[in-house]
Amino acid sequence: MIEVKNLTCEYFKEPLGLDTQNPRISWQIESDKQEVKQSAYQLQVSKKQSFENPIYDQRFESHESILNEIKDLKLDPFTRYYFRVKIWCQGEVPTDWSPASFWETGFMNEEWEGEWITAPEKMEKSEASPYLYHSFNSRKEISQARVYATSLGVYELSINGSRVGDQYFSPGWTSYHNRIQYQAYDVTEYLTADHNEIGVSLGNGWYKGPFGFEGKKEIYGDTKAALVELHITYGDGTKVKIVTNKDWQAVATPILMSEIYHGETYDARLEDQRNHNVETVEVVNYPKHHIIHQQNEPVRKIDELIPLEIFTTREGDTVLDMGQNMVGWIKFNVRAEKGHQIALKHAEILDEEGNIYFGNLRKAEQKITYTCKGGGQEVFEPHFTFQGFRYVKLINFPEDVDLSDFTGEVLHSDMERTGDFETSNPLVNQLHHNIVWGQKGNFLDVPTDCPQRDERLGWTGDAQMFFKTASYLRNVGPFFNKWLKDLIADQLSNGGVPYVIPDIISKTDGNLGGVTHSVAAWGDAAVIIPWTLYVSYGDKRILEEQYSSMKAWVEYMRSQGEDENLWDTGFQLGDWLGLDSEPDTYTGVTDKTLIATAFFAYSTQILIRTAKVLELNDDLEAYEHLYKKIKDSYQDCFLKDNGSLQVQTQTAHVLTLMFNLVDKRSKEKIAADLVTLIEQEGVHLTTGFVGTPYLNLVLSENGYHYIASRLFLQKDYPSWLYQVTKGATTVWEHWDSIKPDGSFWSDDMNSFNHYAYGSIGEWMYKVLAGIDTDQTQPGYKHIHLAPKPGAELTWLRSTYHSMYGEIGSSWTFEGEVFTYNVSIPANTTATVTLPGAASPVKNQKLFLEAIGEYQFSGENVIVHIGSGNYKFQYEYNVLEGSL
Ligand code: BGC
Repeated sequence: MIEVKNLTCEYFKEPLGLDTQNPRISWQIESDKQEVKQSAYQLQVSKKQSFENPIYDQRFESHESILNEIKDLKLDPFTRYYFRVKIWCQGEVPTDWSPASFWETGFMNEEWEGEWITAPEKMEKSEASPYLYHSFNSRKEISQARVYATSLGVYELSINGSRVGDQYFSPGWTSYHNRIQYQAYDVTEYLTADHNEIGVSLGNGWYKGPFGFEGKKEIYGDTKAALVELHITYGDGTKVKIVTNKDWQAVATPILMSEIYHGETYDARLEDQRNHNVETVEVVNYPKHHIIHQQNEPVRKIDELIPLEIFTTREGDTVLDMGQNMVGWIKFNVRAEKGHQIALKHAEILDEEGNIYFGNLRKAEQKITYTCKGGGQEVFEPHFTFQGFRYVKLINFPEDVDLSDFTGEVLHSDMERTGDFETSNPLVNQLHHNIVWGQKGNFLDVPTDCPQRDERLGWTGDAQMFFKTASYLRNVGPFFNKWLKDLIADQLSNGGVPYVIPDIISKTDGNLGGVTHSVAAWGDAAVIIPWTLYVSYGDKRILEEQYSSMKAWVEYMRSQGEDENLWDTGFQLGDWLGLDSEPDTYTGVTDKTLIATAFFAYSTQILIRTAKVLELNDDLEAYEHLYKKIKDSYQDCFLKDNGSLQVQTQTAHVLTLMFNLVDKRSKEKIAADLVTLIEQEGVHLTTGFVGTPYLNLVLSENGYHYIASRLFLQKDYPSWLYQVTKGATTVWEHWDSIKPDGSFWSDDMNSFNHYAYGSIGEWMYKVLAGIDTDQTQPGYKHIHLAPKPGAELTWLRSTYHSMYGEIGSSWTFEGEVFTYNVSIPANTTATVTLPGAASPVKNQKLFLEAIGEYQFSGENVIVHIGSGNYKFQYEYNVLEGSL
């Protein structure tokens, strides 16, 4: 039995308002058979659910089942397109048709009829959120209704008093002057055949609210505005549009203040004052040509957390413990008299004395203030703000307050969860959990450094370092497709890449080294992320779209040095937070020219690979030439005659190995030297943001997996598990955010939810679980399964939902019997490297004939298999395998 399932269009299941001209269709194949391969497919597209007279019906001799582009189909705006697929697998008989799916177009190239509207000046100038609305009678039965909406600021849409949709912080954060997203909603069920009211409440959000280090207001503009179109189709086929224009009205809401950093002030007494002070809106002259459809999954409520306890601190505060450092807000119930005011103040951590600690939030207030309307139980959750917290100080709550009055609502971009990982070591499992929560907390529409202090910015370096881990945990294809377009939008004309995307630092201050852009390992996000996204999801379009930006960044680097092959000028962040310099400093001591030139070489290497994929032969040749010259200069500058490095830091060794900057013999020497440097620290790391993501990868790759394992298992400072033993539930910004003596790193920069060091997740999935893709058949079309057991684990279970389906890689030791179970999705193949299997095979204790081809490779055996589930079992002497 072979079935075609899980159809998606541009990564999404049944998207509305998708304006892609040549959408790409993906599907998954399920089968109980082994070695299933698609040899051809037929794709039908129809405006009718019955597929009668399809407008597109083509068969392709193709083995590709993901991101297949529909070409040459002229798409109409505001139209639903159904599609379905059948496939052929090694034979003449096709499968049945898949269940039908659909996508719906939005504006395509149509003009917006609605106008941008805002509240009258006085209302707009006050801190309170305005509500802009319009009432109308429908008089006829409605068969279908859609709303298309966007705003300057953030908005919540409602119809007849009900909040529409389950999205938050729409229209999301983009480089607003270049791109503003709109959202599409199916609102058929919200309307009545009689009187209706449609409206939007507006918050300042990233557009107008205080944001960035300086808390500057109005970074993008001083006027919030809404643009809405409601398209109604009646039962009799006639259509009408209700659009924002001068006829809409405005009224202030009970949301007296709502800002991303600072929280919200809400006066429920004002809820019934709706009909006072109604005014007419003003039309705003703001362009519409750069409005685009929503590119990534919206932010939604993803989890609900029940608090662990309410307790009183030494200082006498009543504090709620959520048991998890989370991002979102508290939804609460309260029963009090009219006018009674309560407040919640959010923090990540308790100090040494057990008191709630707000110091590291800097200027972010993270405070919710609520005034009761009285008369029974009131339920509240905020609107245009989010908090990063585990603990909540409850201020002035009535005596009857109870744990069950609080729910932690966790919000983030609704990306599909793809990775699962569990082992025999609970501390390792907690580390994995912390990495997962680091991603949750920092993937709220853009990848941020941290979610709690007055920062929450799209730091390019952090995103680049964590990208591969992020892509194991969740499908981040659309999320980064969107963000990379903002990177293009904000990239400088000389190819420079801002520190943060969307770039607000240039619009506010330049307090880091007096510049706002273009440092090594941060700017390289422009090259590393598109490539890694392509490799992870087989998304070739991202390379086509980003290529000019990638090339511009490499050219920027080339133009920096005194000599064009070395980047030795300007400000650099260096190995950020590396531990090899003086305690409590921001940058490690690794030579900044070495770091900059190493990344220059690496990005050039990726550009070469990209040019190869895109068949840009002139560029390929030119950049191969450049790469050779950079490598030569690097070696001239940093390699001694004896093959060791001039710069004796762990990070220098890690980068040299990771980016292949020396020949094989020097590599062996440098790997051995790296181990010596690690041993000199009592088998501890000293790497910062730049070296850490690659540290264990290069050790395992260069014959020192056992050292990687020991580093990974360390529990004392500095190590990954140190923070776990200190009770962390997310990943800290510093190795010593809490120092061994219990004190904290300075308040000026101490986040307890920063994903950069969570980049160890890549090694956990790629090396311990052994799941990786083949770069020449990306998106896990060809899978490498090469687990390297280690870290004293007796078992490990891992799955990864690739675009083709679920990959499984799980192993156990029972005594010396090693059992390895794998599952390979249909329409993919795998090369499995069985660790330590050479002697069992040679001694006929493991029989592989049934599987097909295999080869020996040192201690290991390499097996080539197709889709299906397989089990390998043999005696594996771990000591002999030197793990
Ligand atoms: C951020 C970092 C970032 C760094 C670079 C910090 O404030 O939180 O994660 O990469 O600045 O300077």
